[in-house]
Amino acid sequence: MLNLRGRSFLKEADCSTAELRFLLDLSRDLKRAKYTGTEQPRLTGKQVALVFAKTSTRTRSAFEVAVHDQGGHVTYLDPGGSQLGHKESVADTARVLGRMYDAIEFRGDRQDQVEELARYAGVPVYNGLTAEWHPTQMLADFLTMHEASRKPYDRLAYAYVGDCRFNMGRSLLVMGALMGADVRLAGPPDLHPPADVVELAEDIARATGARVTVTADPAEAVAGVDFVHTDVWVSMGESKEVWADRVKLLAPYQVNRTLLAAGGNPDVRFMHCLPAFHNAQTVVGAEIIAATGMDNGLEVTDEVFESPASIVFDQAENRLHTIKAVLVATLGS
Ligand code: CP
Ligand code: NVA
Repeated sequence: MLNLRGRSFLKEADCSTAELRFLLDLSRDLKRAKYTGTEQPRLTGKQVALVFAKTSTRTRSAFEVAVHDQGGHVTYLDPGGSQLGHKESVADTARVLGRMYDAIEFRGDRQDQVEELARYAGVPVYNGLTAEWHPTQMLADFLTMHEASRKPYDRLAYAYVGDCRFNMGRSLLVMGALMGADVRLAGPPDLHPPADVVELAEDIARATGARVTVTADPAEAVAGVDFVHTDVWVSMGESKEVWADRVKLLAPYQVNRTLLAAGGNPDVRFMHCLPAFHNAQTVVGAEIIAATGMDNGLEVTDEVFESPASIVFDQAENRLHTIKAVLVATLGS
């Protein structure tokens, strides 16, 4: 039995493969308990602060429902809704919240902010997304791939195509390395992950037996894989001005029927952390689609998003069960 009590969850590489497997096993158990009505509250009386410097649907909802299901309480501090950033530093905020709460979730711009929060808070801190890493999303993605394929974690083969410099590309690369998977990233060379992240993944892969590939060729990345992931082409915190260039760079990496067929696996599944720009039914999506003429969707076509190959809503649901596992393992009585 592993003991994660009192630990923060800031990035994947802070955890051993055994610890990540433990969190995934616990996620499966907690999911089953919720479905069978046998869930036992392990967070009774616990107070959890949810600090969001960027907007969220899934991460916030998953933390709120997970804490409530387990008998605890949350306070949600919305972007701009606290003194953090404009009137109070991360270190001071951490020392205040650490006096009142048993744990803190933080979504912000930079990894060094969530690391600083953890250094000063004196209670566990959970990274609910930074520009660099999205570790709670990785647990959901791995649970979802395991459930959909029934393959052990170290037999999973998946591709991520798109902007590989940001949280999702980086996290899928390093998490795949930690879990011993076959992970391939494809994107234009200008949008590849930084060299230190690729080296980290390669170092980990040497120990775990993982295969890590970073390429500019989307067809090479998807060949024979069970899952194709993508993410938005412009992330939170980036300026609207980059859209036009980004669309030009990334259009060859759109996940569409042709790309999925190129992989040669008729059972390939499509995954996306969401939110996704697959049609013009959002304000931002409509604006970009009108400006670029990409009326077939941006990072993914509507056809693929709505197809039976798409498991994005199973993936979204698993945010709840996996975030609950992190809370129970680190904070549970
Ligand atoms: N996938 C994800 O983190 O979604 P939210 O931005 O809605 O939390
Ligand atoms: N790369 C995206 C992920 C959203 C969940 C972003 O950072 O906006």
